[in-house]
Amino acid sequence: MHAIAEATPNIAVIKYWGMRDSALVLPLNSSISVTMDFSLRTRTRVEFGDFKKDSAFLNGKELGGDGHTRVLKIINQVRKLACAGEKCRVQSENFFPTKAGFASSASGFAALAVAADAALALHLGPDALSRLARVSSGSACRSVLGGFVQWNAGEQKNGLDSYAVQLAPASHWEGLLNIAAVVDAGEKAVGSAEGMQLTVQTSALFKKRLAELPERTARMEKAIKKRDAHSFFAIAMEESASMHACMADTKPPLRYMNNVSREIVRAVESLNKTHGENVCGYTFDAGPNAHVYTTKAHAAEVKNALSKVAGVQKLFTCGVGEGPRVLEAPAK
Ligand code: PMV
Repeated sequence: MHAIAEATPNIAVIKYWGMRDSALVLPLNSSISVTMDFSLRTRTRVEFGDFKKDSAFLNGKELGGDGHTRVLKIINQVRKLACAGEKCRVQSENFFPTKAGFASSASGFAALAVAADAALALHLGPDALSRLARVSSGSACRSVLGGFVQWNAGEQKNGLDSYAVQLAPASHWEGLLNIAAVVDAGEKAVGSAEGMQLTVQTSALFKKRLAELPERTARMEKAIKKRDAHSFFAIAMEESASMHACMADTKPPLRYMNNVSREIVRAVESLNKTHGENVCGYTFDAGPNAHVYTTKAHAAEVKNALSKVAGVQKLFTCGVGEGPRVLEAPAK
């Protein structure tokens, strides 16, 4: 009983930062992301069988501690649903540009949820698959779907209404590109789960952010529906700035962006100023690397501008992705 699946990361334009329940990974706000294409992906093989113990390997190295625990959160749920008792072996590989420095937890746990579901022939629908991936990494619940994705925060205590839905498929806006600028490929100092809860506990600005988000989220949804590039870039930048302001307002302050990140912000702003409209927009997660969204028409000049920023180590370009795919599954 084995299956192999691949999934890709997603980059949020309305961010998830703050949980109302950290055990079930329930967010305080809804978020919106764009799933990346297969140029960055995680491939995961899940096998249930006569093994002595459950084991999980990432890029050939056995996982222990927190990594192992997060894998088992998904595995235990599918075993329960399938009334299966077999031990499992998980083998995961990241096909990312070397030293890309981008978190692979979203693609990793989405690929695991899809492969585990396929291995036990559960045939869960997208809502259930999204909830399954969510418990190991919040952002992974959005990578279960392709295109433009919204994770609805939900209100229920048990998290049943907290899952991702597709706003539009990848084909809706094929010319949209994410030009990722690698600034630093190192590990982040404070992990996202820990960092976001510090913000919730200590930032007064965060309360203002939460109050503003429903309106900003609705504007972003509208920009996506209308393929309104100028507004999409403007809202993405406004949102990234809002999250990073709350990070700076956290006690002690969380500083994920660095001087090179700030130079990228300036380069993007100067390009937009020259054009008299937004031809691109940046967003930063819990790290210094930039994701600059643009359209095919402006990709060359955006790449040119970013490559001139001192400290940018590497650029790579990603289109909008279709979401996970199952490569092998037990015959029906
Ligand atoms: O799900 P996590 O723990 O990888 O947290 C993701 C947090 C951000 O990347 C900063 C924002 C987001 O919505 O992806």
